[in-house]
Amino acid sequence: MAVYFHGESRNFHLSNDRISYILTVLRNGHLGHLYFGKKLPDRESYNYLLEEALRPMTSNPYEGDRKFSLEHCLQEFPVYGSSDYREPAVEIREGNGSRITDPRFDSYRIYSGKPRLEGLPTTYTECPGEAETLEITLRDSVTNVCFILSFTVFMDYDAVARSCKICNNGTEPVHIERIMSFTLDLDDNYYDWIQFSGAWARERFPEKHRLHTGIQSITSARGHSGHMHNPFLILKRPSADEYQGEVFGFSLIYSGNFIIQAEVDTYGTSRIQMGINPFQFSWFLKPGETFTAPEGIAAYSSKGMNGLSGIFHQLYRERLIRGIWRDKERPVLINNWEATYFDFDEERLIDIAKKAHSAGIELFVLDDGWFGCRRDDTQGLGDWTPNKNILPDGIAGLSRRIEEECGMKFGLWFEPEMVNKKSVLYETHPDWILQAPYRKSCHGRHQYVLDFSRKDVVDYIYSSMAAVIKESRISYIKWDMNRSITECYSKVYPPEQQGEIFHRYILGVYDLYDRLTTEFPHILFESCASGGGRFDPGMMFYAPQGWTSDDTDAVERLKIQYGTSYCYPLNSMGAHVSIIPNHQLNRSTPLSTRFNTALFGVFGYEMDLTRLSDREFMEIKSQVEFVKEYRTLIHSGTFYRLLSPFENNEAAWMVVSHDKTEAITGYYKILNDVNAGFKRLKLAGLDESFQYTIEGKGIFSGAELMSAGLVINNPPEQDKTASDFRSEIFLLKSQK
Ligand code: GLA
Repeated sequence: MAVYFHGESRNFHLSNDRISYILTVLRNGHLGHLYFGKKLPDRESYNYLLEEALRPMTSNPYEGDRKFSLEHCLQEFPVYGSSDYREPAVEIREGNGSRITDPRFDSYRIYSGKPRLEGLPTTYTECPGEAETLEITLRDSVTNVCFILSFTVFMDYDAVARSCKICNNGTEPVHIERIMSFTLDLDDNYYDWIQFSGAWARERFPEKHRLHTGIQSITSARGHSGHMHNPFLILKRPSADEYQGEVFGFSLIYSGNFIIQAEVDTYGTSRIQMGINPFQFSWFLKPGETFTAPEGIAAYSSKGMNGLSGIFHQLYRERLIRGIWRDKERPVLINNWEATYFDFDEERLIDIAKKAHSAGIELFVLDDGWFGCRRDDTQGLGDWTPNKNILPDGIAGLSRRIEEECGMKFGLWFEPEMVNKKSVLYETHPDWILQAPYRKSCHGRHQYVLDFSRKDVVDYIYSSMAAVIKESRISYIKWDMNRSITECYSKVYPPEQQGEIFHRYILGVYDLYDRLTTEFPHILFESCASGGGRFDPGMMFYAPQGWTSDDTDAVERLKIQYGTSYCYPLNSMGAHVSIIPNHQLNRSTPLSTRFNTALFGVFGYEMDLTRLSDREFMEIKSQVEFVKEYRTLIHSGTFYRLLSPFENNEAAWMVVSHDKTEAITGYYKILNDVNAGFKRLKLAGLDESFQYTIEGKGIFSGAELMSAGLVINNPPEQDKTASDFRSEIFLLKSQK
């Protein structure tokens, strides 16, 4: 891994053993892009890849020169209005109203390791040798605003991380109207675009279309990354599939309003951008101040989409998730939400916990309803003091009982960013919510959004949460966020800074997370926003796991987890077995299939175990044992998607250990079908020469299993147990 610089051509070449990212300083001092993809040999100059040609209807920066035009250059940090007409990476509005910026190369430095971004989540290195960073400073000479771009190449991950700082070194304030974290100009448009979209309870379903001329984008303007679109994009060659072909992935490490966009011009080049959504954004930057944009990651795989997912899984698992929980086994948990909703008292919780402990479950999580006057979702949010009517000794007493009487660890739900009007907090500080002057604010689920752009508000919430944590025995926190933001106006900022509030809000969320994770490093955080409404890499930096979706139906979960797996590792996806008929869509699936689906995530239960039959309870007991035996393999091995539930009446996926001696496969037949054909499931990632034993099936070579396949269903007349929503787990073990 290295960053090469060639003085004469002014080419910078970032590479590891598999990828190259090459950029150059253009004739006018702006940054040009030359190449990103499979590793290339280093050479003095790749500038021949740049176009300089006479074309009608172009504009040219140099008098007498009709060949150089930014419109026809692939660029790294493009600006609009000085011969390029595409959407720019940055837009600065000066006091005089001008929006023209001229970011010219000023200096560079190359160093080992990678930068941390103050107040923002980022990937990181643990020792300097893991990555190398190229930092380029561009300067606009009229305003003296500088742009510091960082490009990091990793030794072990086929990805480039980018970030940008804007420093106002001038004497006049400016407005930043747009700042993209990553811009990548590709020299053609022959790609499929795959986005991950949905809504509450059906998050991150892949949607594909051929990249077409014009602008296509996914965005959030909801104040959180959202259920609707995930800040992740795949571009793949149309012939690429899960196993082969060229694929790019773009992931933004940010939890607020975002945009990921492709602009395909009529010459067939594609400009990919990602960053803070410029809609409703502007930042007032005074002289001497710096603005830092979030980090963006672009990854490249020549081994199809499974290859791409492998890169993101490894990078995020190893160098985004932090703290003691990064490498520790995640506890099997039971959460009382679907078991009791708001209808509980201490004894009911203790009963469930005792039963759960006897099934081997390790962590009891108390969900919503334990604080203030919260007995339904119309009241109480904001008052983080235990309700002594239901918990006589508070959370301190309950958590002690859970640990001492029930032998389990204790976890607790908070929704720190919100307030109900019926609460002591709102009565005391009605001015703490986001609200436009002289206007009413919309509610969502009867709740209002606290102004997290204000330090005093974040300080208050920190103190009230810390007080509960300090007096109790809390090992886990579920951090919820159950509505999108409206009327995003803060009373404490002047008019020219109101465009900052969405971003400042997220910085406040990160600040609170940072304080809590620093002060209480032993606590495992799970992020949640009505399920998967903030399932993004920004959250993962603070909360190693996220509640993937409020939808716990096994069949829907197959799709949700399958879609989520394109970017996010299995150890980030909270997945629970719940009761039937399912509470979201009334479907009844076998307990085994609910288990076989949730197994490929961070496993838990969401049900009242005291109400199960003995047979069901015994089944759960053996499920928990199984999880404990295989969770390390599932959470640290390499994941492969085999059959998509979006395209078939069946689904399959598998995880293979690093040394390839062990693997686990999940196969799911969604609806039963009559007189179906004889099926072979082609496995992936195994060692061709190893002999794998599969219980109940036989011994097969890796080559057989990957090329001929594993026979999974018997001819129908022999299989009398088959019904809808059937599934099977196959364990593969080899001696090497
Ligand atoms: C959200 C979460 C649920 C549960 C409820 C509690 O919907 O996603 O898991 O915590 O809030 O109100």
